[in-house]
Amino acid sequence: MSAVVLRNLRCLESPKALNALSSALFVELNEALKECEEDSEIGAIVLTGSDKAFAAGADIKEMASLTFAEAYSKNFIASWSFMSSLRTPVIAAVSGHALGGGCELAMMCDIIYATKTANFGQPEIKLGTIPGAGGSQRLTKAIGKSKAMELILTGNNYSGEQAEKDGLVAKAVEGGNKEVVDQALATAAKIASYSRVAVVAAKEVVNKSQDLGIREGVEYERRIFHALFGSQDQKIGMKAFAEKKKAEWSHS
Ligand code: HXC
Repeated sequence: MSAVVLRNLRCLESPKALNALSSALFVELNEALKECEEDSEIGAIVLTGSDKAFAAGADIKEMASLTFAEAYSKNFIASWSFMSSLRTPVIAAVSGHALGGGCELAMMCDIIYATKTANFGQPEIKLGTIPGAGGSQRLTKAIGKSKAMELILTGNNYSGEQAEKDGLVAKAVEGGNKEVVDQALATAAKIASYSRVAVVAAKEVVNKSQDLGIREGVEYERRIFHALFGSQDQKIGMKAFAEKKKAEWSHS
């Protein structure tokens, strides 16, 4: 299996508007994600923008005149959640601005790599609104209530370097988009080299930790761990270890 970079989406190539996240962009992004998810040859995905921007947030011009009735009845931005339903791991490779919905999109991914100078933030308060795509929940879980509250209430920006120190970002790298994508691709390739069954199970149990208490979470993990004794790849992996051979995964 291999890894794939999602970059050259028509709408993600919207450098003039710093990749502002429009509805059209999400239609296209979700289609691309669905195609990757259905392709058994793709074991991990890297999502990136450009040197200047991962994404500068939801398209302010598109939503400026939206009414409550329209937002509510059309369930505005519900389609953004598609990313969270994927079983294939996604790494966000962030350089430049990741603001508002851009920061939220990165946080929907499974792992975030960023350049040290990447510019994270939830500036919605400056627009008279609040994060609407999970930012208040995911940021708080990632860096704790006090730091998240400070960022969300002030709209202050937050560097990739600081985000790594606080645990929002798994790795902060020197350089620009190329360097962060290279690092993300190396990790994606490593993930894609393992048993698909084990990778899906590992992602599932880590995600469960976000929803369950420790006791239920540990029990849930144990059940999935038990279930993997029913996979071929558990037999292949452990036999290969004992025989000092490289495992040839069956992905079943
Ligand atoms: C629409 C945007 C945009 C956005 C930038 N642009 N961000 N258009 N929506 N989120 C446009 C600008 O209007 C401008 O268009 C062009 O991109 C370049 O931006 P500049 O401001 O000229 O660039 P710069 O001076 O380099 O400043 C970059 C920036 C700034 C710091 C990122 O653009 C900025 O503060 N943008 C808004 C960031 C933000 O508030 N994001 C949160 C949005 S709310 P023109 O036509 O003038 O060239 C949100 C809510 C999510 O995300 C909740 C779920 C929906």
